[in-house]
Amino acid sequence: MFSLSLSDGAHLAPLEVWQAEEFADHLDRAREHIRPWVGPAFVTDDVDGARATLQRYAERLAGDGARLYGVRQGGTLVGGVMFTAFDAGAGSCEIGCWLEPSAEGHGLVTQACGALLDWAFTSRAMHRAEWHCRADNERSSAVAERLGMTLEGVRREAWPYRGVRYDKQVWAILAREWRPRGE
Ligand SMILES: CC(C)(COP(=O)(O)OP(=O)(O)OC[C@H]1O[C@@H](n2cnc3c(N)ncnc32)[C@H](O)[C@@H]1OP(=O)(O)O)[C@@H](O)C(=O)NCCC(=O)NCCS
Repeated sequence: MFSLSLSDGAHLAPLEVWQAEEFADHLDRAREHIRPWVGPAFVTDDVDGARATLQRYAERLAGDGARLYGVRQGGTLVGGVMFTAFDAGAGSCEIGCWLEPSAEGHGLVTQACGALLDWAFTSRAMHRAEWHCRADNERSSAVAERLGMTLEGVRREAWPYRGVRYDKQVWAILAREWRPRGE
C-alpha cells in the first residue's frame, strides 16, 4: 500500500476499517496516555470500538469530509493524524493527532501534520486549518506552534473531562501563511 516517508524510518499511510485489530492493539498501548487530551469517542476499549472509529472516518471520507492516517514505525502502528473536520466548500479544516508514548519526541507528528497541511493548502485549495487542544496540553500546543499556527483564542471551560471543565485553545494557519518544507 502507498505511504509517505517520515524521519526515523517512520511512514504515514492509510488506516482503514480492515486494520481494526492493529488499531485496537495500538490503543492498548496508547489509551491511558491519550485519554485526557482527545475526544472521548476516540478512546475505545476493544476491537469493535476501534472498528467503529475507523468506520466513522471511512464514511466521512466517502463524503470528502474527515479522514484518518496512521503513523507506523518499524511496521508498528504508533499513532496517527487526522482531519477531524474537512469542509471543502467553506475552505476550512481541523487537524488532530495522537502518539503512543514510545513514539513521542521524534518530530513524527509535526512532519505528518505538515503533510496534511501541504495537501490541504496546495492540492485542495483550503483557506484555513485549525488545531483545537486543551489549554494545558503543552505538547499539543507546541506542535501547533511548530507548524506555524497562531493562537487565535481560548474557549473558556469548553473541554469537560472527569468532572472538571478545562479551557480549549484554538490555533489556526491560513493558506498564505503556509510554507511547505524545503521552501
Ligand atoms: C500531542 C502529541 C502528539 C505530541 O507528540 P510529540 O512527540 O511531542 O510531537 P512531535 O512528534 O511533533 O515531536 C516533537 C518533539 O520531537 C523533537 N524533534 C526531533 N526531531 C524533530 C523534527 N524533525 N521536527 C520536529 N520536532 C522534532 C522536538 O524537539 C520535540 O521534542 P521535545 O518533546 O523535546 O520538545 C503527543 O504528546 C500525544 O500523543 N499526546 C497525547 C494525545 C494528544 O494530546 N493529542 C493531541 C490532542 S489536541
